Amino acid sequence: MNGYCCIACNTTQAADYAGFVCPTCGGNLDISYDYAEISTAFESVDGIFRYSAFLPVENPGTSLSLKIGGTPLYKAGRLGESIGLRNLYLKDDTGNPSASIKDRASVIALQRALDTGADTVAVASTGNAGSSTACLAAAMGLRAVVFVPESAPVPKLTQSLAYGATVFAVRGNYDDAYDLCLRASQEFGWFNRSTGFNPFTREGKKTCSYEIWEQLGRVPDRVVVPTGDGNILSSIWKGWRDLYAVGLIDRLPKIDCAQADASAAISLAVEQVRKSGSEPDWPTLKIDHVDANTIADSISVDQPRDGLAAVKAIIESGGEAVTVADSEILESILEIARMTGVFAEPAAAAPWAATKRMVREQKIAADELVVCLVSGNGLKDVATAGSIVGTPCVIEPTLEAVCESLGNH
Ligand SMILES: Cc1ncc(COP(=O)(O)O)c(C=O)c1O
Ligand SMILES: [Zn+2]
Repeated sequence: MNGYCCIACNTTQAADYAGFVCPTCGGNLDISYDYAEISTAFESVDGIFRYSAFLPVENPGTSLSLKIGGTPLYKAGRLGESIGLRNLYLKDDTGNPSASIKDRASVIALQRALDTGADTVAVASTGNAGSSTACLAAAMGLRAVVFVPESAPVPKLTQSLAYGATVFAVRGNYDDAYDLCLRASQEFGWFNRSTGFNPFTREGKKTCSYEIWEQLGRVPDRVVVPTGDGNILSSIWKGWRDLYAVGLIDRLPKIDCAQADASAAISLAVEQVRKSGSEPDWPTLKIDHVDANTIADSISVDQPRDGLAAVKAIIESGGEAVTVADSEILESILEIARMTGVFAEPAAAAPWAATKRMVREQKIAADELVVCLVSGNGLKDVATAGSIVGTPCVIEPTLEAVCESLGNH
């Protein structure tokens, strides 16, 4: 890395800047590189540290035994064909150690914490960033403090506790947890890994795009990304821009944002920008707060914490901002599971729901190569999936009981 650039006002900071956000306007920072100096020969390891030349940390991965990244990309033939799409793929990030894409971010942010001498890492989370931070802190010898809304799905809280984190279940929503984490980190001098505020998370998640490119052997037409704060989306876009900047690719994909109808702050802002018909004044662009309320807890966000970067990414890439009903998300969990064998948590099923909507609205052509990002495992929220899968047949241990039961179905 060679410094930071503010996403809102473009003010730059040198690489030794010790703050997290822009000192001029308080905006989120983007880590910059001297692309002419980056070696495009990837390391011969499987996982995120294959891309060490593109990562902003000292000693990347040397203290870590867990494997992060290097996740599969599946061709989802039957799922795609069910709506006439010939080239649908799933980037399945559910196999990361804590079962979500967040591990890509945590490993880089926590390596940064180690590089800067921190011993405690705090994070605000809807649940996954917390369990991921707890997981990586355990693996890297750091203390983790996690702030989540009290309503976070139990499996995510259980994971965090099992990994040994201090977990604060805040009586409030994610936004309350976020603000409290910020205040506590300032008070106690903790390294704050929270999404948006910490520029290092984007650098980890962007590796997902490098992997998709290597796995496909080409640039897809679209990547559809589940979106709450907008950090995953802006990371996916950065990954492709990195590859473009070093000359490895000569075109960029569209990045489509998948949000819940009732948690759509970023989509609403994109719509406003597009309606205005002119390039917005980014430093003053306001992303209106919503009252989020969706079963997809990971994307339930009132005030997106990396919203500006996400809105810019969607506009620059020419992607769509799509919102879907909770009922479409639920239906999508089952379709993905039953036609591909991949079990997605609600947020992670939103890209498929959004893809169907785009096909219905004729925004995607049948031969476009579409990648849906499956960002978190269905086992992280069994209660929601459990509400739609029905119940097993409870029977006596006899063949007659099986026959009788089959007869009844
Ligand atoms: C599984 C999963 N998908 C999607 C998201 C949304 O990411 P972002 O808040 O960066 O938009 C999250 C965030 O918690 C998540 O855990
Ligand atoms: Zn700024």
